[in-house]
Amino acid sequence: MTSYRSNPDAVRALVRPDRVHRDLYIDPELFALEQEHFFANTWNYLGHTSQIPKPGDYLTVDIAGQPLIAVRHTDNTVRVMMNRCAHKGSKVVSEPCGNAGKFFRCPYHAWTFKTDGSLLAIPLKNGYEGTSLKDCEAARGLAAVKNVETFRGFIFAKINDVGPDFKAYFGDSLSSIDNMADRSPEGELEIAGGVLRFMHNCNWKQFIENLNDTMHPMVVHESSAGTAKNLWASQPADAPKPMAVEQFVPFVSDYKFFDDMGVRVFDNGHSFSGVKFSIHSKYSGVPEYEAAMATAYGEQRAHDILSLTRHNTVYFPSLTIKGAIQTIRVVRPIAVDKTLIESWSFRLKGAPPELLRRTTTYNRLINSPFSVVGHDDLRAYRGIQEGLHASGNEWISLHRNFDEGEIDQPDLTTNGTSEISMRNQYRAWARYMTLTMSAGKPGDDA
Ligand code: FES
Ligand SMILES: [Fe+2]
Repeated sequence: MTSYRSNPDAVRALVRPDRVHRDLYIDPELFALEQEHFFANTWNYLGHTSQIPKPGDYLTVDIAGQPLIAVRHTDNTVRVMMNRCAHKGSKVVSEPCGNAGKFFRCPYHAWTFKTDGSLLAIPLKNGYEGTSLKDCEAARGLAAVKNVETFRGFIFAKINDVGPDFKAYFGDSLSSIDNMADRSPEGELEIAGGVLRFMHNCNWKQFIENLNDTMHPMVVHESSAGTAKNLWASQPADAPKPMAVEQFVPFVSDYKFFDDMGVRVFDNGHSFSGVKFSIHSKYSGVPEYEAAMATAYGEQRAHDILSLTRHNTVYFPSLTIKGAIQTIRVVRPIAVDKTLIESWSFRLKGAPPELLRRTTTYNRLINSPFSVVGHDDLRAYRGIQEGLHASGNEWISLHRNFDEGEIDQPDLTTNGTSEISMRNQYRAWARYMTLTMSAGKPGDDA
């Protein structure tokens, strides 16, 4: 078996223009290297500012295998720091969210830290007189993450100080977040309720690449959405259409529908399908909401915002959004074959309650652990995770509509059933994996 540590050439060789090697999904060493390099070198989603509205509010999250705190400081800015006590390394907070008041207090020996991470106080401080404590890292408090950006309330951070800045990294893909926020008559989103957590027994990349895989819905979701479609077909023509039917049925649209939908890719692995229309385009209107949008933006602008109904947008590698239905799914890799998917619903500020009902219905039906549709995908991922251990073929085909010319075109729109979004993700994966790896003896990595 190849060792990938300190071997960037071997890592690059796993990604060919039109296929990738199975080790990407099943090799535990590569998973460890992803945490060390890939996730630390890329911009990852932490949470939304509406989760931490008041000074002292915080949320915790692991990125690149490192525990982080995002907190609202007294000056109202969002600060991100390592959840690692400056004394002996204990996590300072263990809850997923809360309010720290004016300072964090370590549960082990009660050192305290202000919400900008600086050291506030140490019990029996005179015991440190004459020592070098004040000149070393312990006195500097909780280590700050310097690369932090908030965009329309979405908080992102990058741990390593390498690679492009936030705007350059995401480029025009940010238009999908803009569209989701613009759908609020007040131009603001707010997290509604708690999170739906769904453990997936598969590598995180299977989930991500599936979101713009439009050759699977009519096959994998035949049993769930197909049943809903057949059931609905047997109803009288004048029967009122339930919201669930409206949301289920488009999943089993035909190949032509998904191909015509279109896909757009961006540099650094981002993409969205549904350039022209999507499975969300035909939802019935809510007149009260449309009127509120027209009042807020004017008829034309409101129409432009609402007619952009993109399918999944992937903010590679950790955030995926559905602007048209105001849900996001966040990828939290746990192990090479275990990935936690978090599904969150958003309220459009200033919109009637019907909109939130549509969002939460969708999230329960499609994205939650008790979803019908979601289990179809999960079964497919598990099948791949197990199937890839078979010998005789070590490569995953991503040939569909491959064209040499796409390699040097970072921003490209093409037919919706192309596998270009996956090829684009893996090119970015190889780039960010090897950005901080150097060749040499094991343990020599930068
Ligand atoms: S480890 Fe935090 S105060 Fe000792
Ligand atoms: Fe699916």
